[in-house]
Amino acid sequence: MPKVTYIEHDGREHAVEVKSGLSVMEGAVRNSVPGIDADCGGACACATCHVYVDEAWREATGKPSAMEESMLDFAEAVEPNSRLSCQIRVSDALDGLIVRLPASQH
Ligand code: FES
Repeated sequence: MPKVTYIEHDGREHAVEVKSGLSVMEGAVRNSVPGIDADCGGACACATCHVYVDEAWREATGKPSAMEESMLDFAEAVEPNSRLSCQIRVSDALDGLIVRLPASQH
């Protein structure tokens, strides 16, 4: 199973295995990674699953859709590598993915 590492703002790392086909958000929730509330359940309607994609993984994770872009406008401290983790689908191509959590989410 692909491994995804979630790094909290204080540096705490959570390296977990996430089944292909699940979203990066679902991987966090199922493994009790703190900081990803996912209030809307993955409908791209809350921005509480905001993460920063590690630079090395930006290309592989692709670009946000127009809907995701507009929802990111509601997130705090948005950076060029900001994504909503419910919109990133885990696959073997993302084995080793690293995402960081914003300071506002813990
Ligand atoms: S879980 Fe709500 S936007 Fe991702």
